Formats: sequence, C-alpha cells, structure tokens
Amino acid sequence: MKIASIVGARPQFIKAAPLDRELRKLHEHVLIHTGQHYDYLMSAVFFEELGIPEPDYNLGVGSGSHGRQTGEMLIRIEETLSQERPDCVLVYGDTNSTLAGALAAAKLHLPLAHVEAGLRSFNRRMPEEINRVLTDHMADLLFCPTETARHNLTSEGITKGVSNVGDVMYDAVLQSIDIVERRSQILGSLNIQPRSYLLATIHRPSNTDNLQNLSAILAAFNEAGENIVFPAHPRTSQAITRTGCELPSRVKLLEPVSYLDMLALERNARLILTDSGGVQKEAYFFGVPCITLREETEWVETTEAGWNLLVGTSKAKIIQAVQEFRPQGKRPKIFGDGKASQKIAHHLESINRS
Ligand code: UD1
Ligand code: UDP
Repeated sequence: MKIASIVGARPQFIKAAPLDRELRKLHEHVLIHTGQHYDYLMSAVFFEELGIPEPDYNLGVGSGSHGRQTGEMLIRIEETLSQERPDCVLVYGDTNSTLAGALAAAKLHLPLAHVEAGLRSFNRRMPEEINRVLTDHMADLLFCPTETARHNLTSEGITKGVSNVGDVMYDAVLQSIDIVERRSQILGSLNIQPRSYLLATIHRPSNTDNLQNLSAILAAFNEAGENIVFPAHPRTSQAITRTGCELPSRVKLLEPVSYLDMLALERNARLILTDSGGVQKEAYFFGVPCITLREETEWVETTEAGWNLLVGTSKAKIIQAVQEFRPQGKRPKIFGDGKASQKIAHHLESINRS
C-alpha cells in the first residue's frame, strides 16, 4: 500500500518518527511536510535526530492567521494528494496541518486515518479542539491513545474504525531513551545537576497572547525561588519580548531544544510546568511531577493518577503548587505497551480489505 503522512508541526515529527519506521517495513510511505513549522529548531532538527527521511514534499506554507494558513495548506495538500493518489492518508494530532490534511483527503475520497484520535478538552476556544473534532468526524480509521479517547468518540456516535492502540509518543520515548543517555550534553552545557531545577514550557495562545495570563505565569516563575529552565517556543519568546518583562537569572530562557535534549531535561527535572500536551505525557512516563498551566487537559488519566495538577494561570496557585505538589502514588500504564506504531502499520491493511 501507499500511505501518505501529513505533518507540519513539532509534535507531529516526533509522532511520525516511530510510525515511519514501522510503515516502511510494510508499505510505501510518502511524507508530506506542510511547512507550518520551519525554523531549524522547530523542524529539521527532529528529522536529523530521529532519523526521519527528508520529506518527499515540503509545501512551504509557513505562518499566518488560522484561515490563511489552513486554506493555503488545503490547496497545496490537495494538489499533492491528487498526484500521489495514496491508498490511505495519515494525519496526526490536532494542528492546522491535521485539519487541512484531513479535509483534503476527505474531499478526494481518500481513506483517512487519524493518529491520536478522540482527545477532547471540551473547550471550543482552543484551536486544537475544533481541529480534532472535525478530523475525527471525517476519519475512517481512528487510532486512540487511551481508553478515555475511545469513550469520547463513542459519546459522539463514532464507533466504526476505532481502536485503542496506545500512544505513539510513548513508543518514541522508549525508542529514544538510551540514545538520550549517550548523546545529550544539555545538563553539562547548562551547568545544572539532576533534580536541582524545574523545567517550563508554554506556547498555548491562551497563555502567550493574553497579556494578563502571560504576566501572571512569568511573575510566578520569577517569584518561585527555584532555578527554572525555560526552552521557549518562538511564539512565546516573541510574546515575552512584547511584555518588556525582565526575567531573573534563575530563569534560563532558551531557544527551543532538540528532542533528545528535551527528554534529558524532562527526565532530570524536579518538577515540570507546562501547557503542552506532549510534555504532560512525557512527565508522566518519567515519573516527574507535572503542573499544568491550563484549566483542563485531554490527558485526564495523568491527573486522576495524581501526577499532573491543573492550576490554570493564577500566580498564587502556581507558586503554591511548586512548593507543595509532591505526588508519590503509582503510575498505571495508560499509554499502551510501546507498540502503538506497529499496531497502526498493521491495522492500515484493513483499508485494503474494506
Ligand atoms: C501549533 C499548533 C499547536 C501545537 C504547536 C506545537 C495549531 C493551531 N497549533 O501551534 O496545536 O501544540 O504547534 O508546537 O496548529 N513560528 C516561528 N517559527 C516556526 C514556527 C512558528 O517563528 O518555525 C512563530 C510564528 O510567529 C508563528 C507562531 O510561531 O506565527 C505560531 O506558530 P503556529 O504554527 O501558527 O502555531 P503554534 O503556536 O506553533
Ligand atoms: N519538545 C522539544 N523541544 C522543546 C519543547 C518541546 O523537543 O523545546 C518536544 C517535547 O518533548 C514533546 C513535543 O515537543 O515531545 C511537544 O510538542 P509541543 O509542546 O510543541 O506541542 P503539543 O504537544 O502541546 O501539541
């Protein structure tokens, strides 16, 4: 079979890495990069580190408003898929690249598979929520990472083509962790010791583009009295510059880091502060307490297990959580067995039989 994957944003390169390896064992795999992320540290570094082949197409769409970016992607993906005529189109997660890829495939009547299907925040003001709801309602095969995701789909009447295969990001971590130990120099180069720092990332528009929320988060980082390593998404660095806020030297603001360096920073942090979906899960994989700077999460199992605390953007709540949050309970295996990509590659053959 010929499978075409549509990727475009940082977490999608990470999700596609273990899948690409499995897909190539059984199928032809065409990789289409929309160009949503384009800086070296937001894109090429992941292909290099994770050994993902160069994309067959880079559509060079770049940044823009939601409508312009998604529309431009739709035009260019449609052209590419019309030439390639794959047997199945694979989309990942919930970005604008996901929605554009799904729409293009559906309109061309190409079978569509969604990796990381069924996640819901139940917050329609999140751009990702719109993208994932629409993608799930167009998909023929829906690969859920958790049981909650499968339940969410059932509640919306989607039961056909649904399977819980586990989380491909868990596969990615398991496949990379030995390499992290050998290759990442990040702790040494930042001159930090394991468990002597907190790791922070933020990039949700509700936190970066809302001055009140961003100021409260930065004030909490400033006043937490801890060393904080803060690799910032370009959206975030731009927003921090706009606030004119000075960060003290205990808060190390960095450019985005590579995947292996990020895993090293996560694994050795005393605690993680984030609004990222992927980072919440990785904190759980490593057994590092996670404070989520949002009001809700799609990864509810991590909060139910007691390892992830939702605090929103109140300065006082963030500081209190940094001081007091010390989970110790068990971490049930909720993200599968590390073979999600293998299962997806095999499942795709059912498209041929249907
Ligand atoms: C996107 C996804 C989000 C995902 C995140 C992962 C959507 C709606 N959002 O958000 O779900 O969690 O990626 O990181 O698809 N920029 C650069 N260089 C780059 C990329 C972006 O400077 O290589 C800057 C641009 O100013 C751009 C801004 O970041 O306008 C936002 O980028 P965009 O891709 O629109 O959204 P993300 O915030 O990255
Ligand atoms: N990540 C990375 N470098 C960074 C920040 C994040 O490699 O500087 C990785 C992180 O380990 C995780 C993924 O990017 O695997 C999460 O992506 P992001 O936070 O951009 O998006 P989200 O998961 O929220 O959609």
